[in-house]
Amino acid sequence: MHKDFSKIILTNEQIVQKCKELGKLITNDYKDKSPVIVSLLKGAVPFMAELIKHIDIDDLELDFMDVSSYSGTSSTREVKVLQDLRRSVEGRHVLLVEDIVDTGHTLVKVIELIKDKKAESVKIVSLLNKEDRREVDIHADYLGFEIPNEFVVGFGLDYNEKYRHTSYIGVLKEEIYK
Ligand code: IMP
Repeated sequence: MHKDFSKIILTNEQIVQKCKELGKLITNDYKDKSPVIVSLLKGAVPFMAELIKHIDIDDLELDFMDVSSYSGTSSTREVKVLQDLRRSVEGRHVLLVEDIVDTGHTLVKVIELIKDKKAESVKIVSLLNKEDRREVDIHADYLGFEIPNEFVVGFGLDYNEKYRHTSYIGVLKEEIYK
């Protein structure tokens, strides 16, 4: 385990197993559509990479969007678009891939932006959810794990850009951010 983690909450095996389950559900729901899977940079990239291995659909596209909504360990409400989608999603079925739904402000804003682009449908798949922290009414259509209100890092999730590379998810030692 990384020396800055106090404990591991999700092992790589658990994450991969969950991606298999979510991939099956998504394959079933989107098999007759040609979805665009949109990953939010950078935190959702490892999750997207694992998840798409388990989605068995012939016609599928990937795109990326970068929005900033967070600094340190507390959410700010402002969501800025740093990088927009490369291609039009007009009339397309968009599946947004997120690492974690926390207050929910990021997703509310991103969904609004994608609907403005006239997507046919927008759904969310999130690896993690912190229900206790929610400030707006939004939920993932496909969810990996419900987690307690602790600051977690690894498998894409960062603290000041660190720890994204670990294959597992853990709780950061308090002394690192206090
Ligand atoms: P929201 O707008 O509050 O839902 O923020 C969602 C974003 O905050 C996520 O995409 C993460 O980038 C970040 N975030 C929220 N909780 C955590 C955490 O426990 N660890 C790392 N990043 C987090």
